[in-house]
Amino acid sequence: MDRYAVFGFPIGHSLSPMIHQHFAEQTQQSMSYEAIEVNADTFETNVTDFFKSGGKGINCTVPLKELAFKKADELSQRARFSGAVNTLKLLEGVRLYGDNTDGIGLLSDLQDNLGLSIKGKRILVLGAGGAARGIIGPLLEAKPSMLWLANRTLSKAQAMEAVFASIGNIKPVSFEQLYGEQFDLVINATSASLSGAMPPLPRKLLAQGAVCYDLAYSKEGATVFTKWGVEQGAALSVDGLGMLLGQAAHAFNLWRGVMPDTIGLKEKLRP
Ligand code: ATR
Repeated sequence: MDRYAVFGFPIGHSLSPMIHQHFAEQTQQSMSYEAIEVNADTFETNVTDFFKSGGKGINCTVPLKELAFKKADELSQRARFSGAVNTLKLLEGVRLYGDNTDGIGLLSDLQDNLGLSIKGKRILVLGAGGAARGIIGPLLEAKPSMLWLANRTLSKAQAMEAVFASIGNIKPVSFEQLYGEQFDLVINATSASLSGAMPPLPRKLLAQGAVCYDLAYSKEGATVFTKWGVEQGAALSVDGLGMLLGQAAHAFNLWRGVMPDTIGLKEKLRP
């Protein structure tokens, strides 16, 4: 049986094994998928051992995505832009292909599940760390009129502009520069909500019908950011569970050559 796994630390609460098992049953693929606790120090050895013992593919999560990027022998274009790899696939039994399905997973959720169109819209991404870098390329490819990238440390947002300006319109700003502006879609890519904090945002940031999207997700209840969205009158304020499903579906497709359906799965994972 073909073997797959998610590597990360901590990994005990990962939903990925349940998601991939569901995909495998739905598409009638014979495969196993497990969660393995791997930290940065043992990453190299763990990857080698996993592929030696019949492994065909690995998902990598915090704190291993940059190491997976370095480990890959070949990279997809979106992985190259994002500087991180969340999916490794064994090619011809020897080489490792690295992809990043986070951004396309977000786009699938926004466009296919939530029915949003990005084209011509004003988008605000909060945060300029690893999570932001994984989604900016695919967002720009969907042709927003402008993607504003706001970060506490402005220089990091400016560095991101240098990476992505060839793909589309991107404007690095500080949080203070957001006063008086309005957006159709606000995406929280800061790690603030993991510690229950909110970036310092002005009021009236949301245009009529705006959507708020938190890349982080909560197994129960709302995140601080999705609560903020509701308070600010967003038409829709959701967390990143749909993106988690989307990135998993695209990884599964890369490995097995069949795209699973994610409809209804959110409700199964969070009844
Ligand atoms: P990740 O991989 O989750 O993106 P990261 O690369 O460490 O983690 O980036 C964290 C991001 O969240 C950064 O953009 C950080 O802002 P700085 O670059 O100024 O550090 C942002 N962040 C974290 N806590 C924050 C807070 N309380 N308010 C605003 N931004 C915050």
